[in-house]
Amino acid sequence: MCGIVGFVGSKKGVRVLTEGLERLEYRGYDSAGVAYLKDGKVNVVKEEGKLSNLKEKLNLDDEMTLGIGHTRWATHGKANATNAHPHKMGKFTVVHNGIIENYNVLRSELEKKGYVFKSETDTEVICTLLDYMYKDDKDVLSCINKLNKMLDGSYALGIICEDDKDNLYLLKNKSPLIVGVNDNEKYIASDAPAILDKTKKNIILDDGDYARLSGDKVELFNDGKKKEYQIKEFMYDADAIDKKGYEHFMLKEMHEQPDVFKKTTNPYLKEGVESLLNNMPDFTKYNKIRIVACGSATHAGLVGKCMLEEYANVRTVVDTASEFRYNKQFLEDDELVIVISQSGETADTFEALKIANKNGNDTLGIINEKGSSIAREAKMVLYTEAGKEIAVATTKAYSAQVALLTLIALNIAENKKTINKKEMIKILEDSKLVPGYIEELLSMSDIYKTIAEEIKDQNDIFFIGRKIDYALAQEGSLKLKEISYTHSEAYAAGELKHGTISLIEEGTPVIAIVTDDSIAPKTINNIKEVKTRGANVIYITNRKKESDIFYDRRIIVPEVHKVFEPLLTIIPLQMTAYYLAKIKGCPIDQPRNLAKSVTVE
Ligand code: F6R
Repeated sequence: MCGIVGFVGSKKGVRVLTEGLERLEYRGYDSAGVAYLKDGKVNVVKEEGKLSNLKEKLNLDDEMTLGIGHTRWATHGKANATNAHPHKMGKFTVVHNGIIENYNVLRSELEKKGYVFKSETDTEVICTLLDYMYKDDKDVLSCINKLNKMLDGSYALGIICEDDKDNLYLLKNKSPLIVGVNDNEKYIASDAPAILDKTKKNIILDDGDYARLSGDKVELFNDGKKKEYQIKEFMYDADAIDKKGYEHFMLKEMHEQPDVFKKTTNPYLKEGVESLLNNMPDFTKYNKIRIVACGSATHAGLVGKCMLEEYANVRTVVDTASEFRYNKQFLEDDELVIVISQSGETADTFEALKIANKNGNDTLGIINEKGSSIAREAKMVLYTEAGKEIAVATTKAYSAQVALLTLIALNIAENKKTINKKEMIKILEDSKLVPGYIEELLSMSDIYKTIAEEIKDQNDIFFIGRKIDYALAQEGSLKLKEISYTHSEAYAAGELKHGTISLIEEGTPVIAIVTDDSIAPKTINNIKEVKTRGANVIYITNRKKESDIFYDRRIIVPEVHKVFEPLLTIIPLQMTAYYLAKIKGCPIDQPRNLAKSVTVE
């Protein structure tokens, strides 16, 4: 999604803004711009496409003491220089992340007052409204407070008023924004990486907060009143956004999965005490669990559902947040609502959480970004320890979500005694094997490259599986389509013959997953059905022996206790998607049209 940086302090080259924007590039964008005070005037420079285009138009050594920058992911109006931010009207220049839902009404009112708009964006109404109010009010803070009451939607704003050469202003509502603090300089950023190399200290803002920042001062307000703030340390450092020699962040992050597994599970897997899982809240009182999330986090939820039902014997439903929030929810009193989010900022997931909270349900966030909006809103939080995830396509955060959900299921199972001690001991022992097995699967790059080469010219790829393998198939398919731009669908293996099988023809790749022994013969029958019709079957399984050969390629995942199988099975799916995208020359870390954290609905 869009990225914001802002700076106020002692003189710096305008590159302080472009450097910040470069560090937000991973989030995805299609145009960029900066505005900075030069000779008492606000100088706005914007360009379509990559930041390199913008940098060509700038003298990066141009010195300034106050500036804002933006990378735009188009929502209202095409990705071009006119629609790019910053937007300036009269005395005010703004950068904006989010969406203004009532911008059409506001725009017509302002047009009636004589304003002429240059862009198609919702953002231009913001600087125009400020300019209009300021004509009478002359107090920037008061105008921002009024603005906050007039806008509907989500907005993180960096604001410059041409009459105030010393201060940078901001306003935040339902879109992330942080303040970075150094002695003689202050920064704003929509995400920590933008400023991690400049400062370790930051202030987290609440919705409705607005601020006036100068080089040596932060003044925070909410609804007309001054507010206290706390300065905190970032949880990770600039190192987190280094590729460490890997060609892509996605590759690096996939290779971090063994370590992420250890970091996420170690706090809970405690040997030698009465129960083998510890330090977790007691979830046994809930008769039902509802998991709400978006994209890959939903897919992690589907794996979690299988675990929760199988081991903890608790009925679990999984909802897509963007649907859940507008459906009739039928939330029951004894139902725990779990929201899963890497970024902790996904707009739909956040709204779903608010609905559950408002309904009085207990809510649990499974979150990666500490201190994020969802983490702060959820009644309980368990953090995944995936560290900063930069590649737009999630890999290590997804695995961490799966790992944590598995532990929740086991924790309930242990407390409810739906699992026996012997099996728990085996699980504990096998947990130690998981990192090594993940590494083993990651090291098998030749087979993934071969498969990628074989399927690279295909337009449609199918994934099939049953039960937990179907949940994995859905994640495998999403990974493949988002980064390799290859159309793909995941099907419950038993559903194929109800329609989709008509699409199978000579050479159609079908990636079939079979790890659940209880259902393996059924899925194998379905694989044979597609094989007979000419499919190129890539078989991913933990079964070492088959009585006949019904596949073209086979990847065997190491044998481990069932609860950890998904963490192994997902690796060939992620790696195949990666190598397919690589062969096709796709921008792996920043697929087109996608954004790392989806803060608009
Ligand atoms: C896919 C992907 C997305 C996210 C989804 C939710 O690789 O990354 O589908 O999983 O946008 O994001 P979070 O987890 O930040 O709420």
